[in-house]
Amino acid sequence: MSKAFQAIKGMNDCLPEMSPIWQHLEACIRQVVSSYGYSEIRTPIVENTQLFCRSIGEVTDIVEKEMYTFVDKGEDSLTMRPEGTAACVRAGIQNGLLYNQQQRLWYMGPMFRREKPQKGRYRQFHQFGAESFGFNGPDIDAELIALTARLWKTLGFADDVELQLNSLGSNQAREAYKALLVEYFTENFELLDEDSQRRLKSNPLRILDSKNPALKELISAAPKLTEHLDEESKRHFTLLCEKLEQLDIAYVINPTLVRGLDYYNRTVFEWVTSSLGAQGTICAGGRYDGLVEQLGGQATPGCGFAMGLERIILLLEQQSDLSAKLSLPVDVYICTLGETAEAAGGVYIEKLRDSYPLIKFQQHCGGGNFKKQLKKADKSSAKIALILGDDEIKNQAVGIKFLREDKQQITLSQSDLIEQLSQIL
Ligand code: HAM
Repeated sequence: MSKAFQAIKGMNDCLPEMSPIWQHLEACIRQVVSSYGYSEIRTPIVENTQLFCRSIGEVTDIVEKEMYTFVDKGEDSLTMRPEGTAACVRAGIQNGLLYNQQQRLWYMGPMFRREKPQKGRYRQFHQFGAESFGFNGPDIDAELIALTARLWKTLGFADDVELQLNSLGSNQAREAYKALLVEYFTENFELLDEDSQRRLKSNPLRILDSKNPALKELISAAPKLTEHLDEESKRHFTLLCEKLEQLDIAYVINPTLVRGLDYYNRTVFEWVTSSLGAQGTICAGGRYDGLVEQLGGQATPGCGFAMGLERIILLLEQQSDLSAKLSLPVDVYICTLGETAEAAGGVYIEKLRDSYPLIKFQQHCGGGNFKKQLKKADKSSAKIALILGDDEIKNQAVGIKFLREDKQQITLSQSDLIEQLSQIL
């Protein structure tokens, strides 16, 4: 036997047993996002490499180490998207969606980053994201945060997550703050780890994001970004906080929250949970008012977020009542005995499907006696088995066996069952 292939490390199959959880999550997302009037956008998985370098930033972990980049047969450098914002902006500019317009967009799909795989961190993972364009005020920041808060409520883990907020200020204010930070960390250069020493030159703000516990004290004593904001950003941030309070959305201000992508200004936020170990950030986002212009469009403010669906699935799996929320793959299993019954059953099941497009029917295939077929029915998730043998066919009848309830088998006429099936289920 030749050696069987394995999936690429960090890229996972979604097996049938997991599909109901994914479908539940996706259905909740679609319902919540449409209740806020957002429109779906689907962009290609592969984009021009420069799109990501210029938006996410050359000196970021994603661009420096994590992108799946390749040269195609036409000698173009292409990259499998590591995130969704850049492509949304690119598509918006290219298709004239952003020019003097306001947009509320959302997307869902796979993203690719060559990180070290561990629980909650994968090389192919899935994001649901929302992006808004053309809104200057903090009302849109609050709306996006309220949308995510509503999703946690719908999914049933609102008490398990915490909203962390910060403001990065304007680009100018951030540059001035950066200089202060460089001065502070240069004075304490010996205390920095190797990674942070390197970041001091390339991207000093990211030192604040270090997960090294040995740096905790040094970082907490560093000058605070929130204390060096420009007046406009300060006002924006205060108004956002007020709006969240009006909406009864609890938050904590985390002055070291800086995010790992370069396009942000003003508001940044993350939803974090302590229930997932190291990969506790389930959703992250903020404003990126300069990005559209930076990528060749007319200056247009932007704000959005993206969440990691695998991490949310891990949270859902911890719920004891999860199975009750999931839809089952089969509701009704049809057992037929003999060729005539099998053919008649096939015709009858199509009639049932005509009348009940939302009910899931499965007809037994592969023959065998009733005992074997009922065993299969029992193994499926079906609530009832329909029995069609020679007698039933002759009498235009159908037997109904209850698979999950302690009830006697009953027989109905085939036409009565078409009328009564939803009550019986
Ligand atoms: P990000 O922080 O890079 O931001 O990713 C957003 C979320 O995606 C993370 O909080 C995490 O839940 C999930 N995620 C990231 N990497 C992985 C991974 N390797 N495995 C599993 N989940 C992962 C962005 O991508 C921005 N585009 C968000 C945004 C949209 N900002 C404004 N608009």
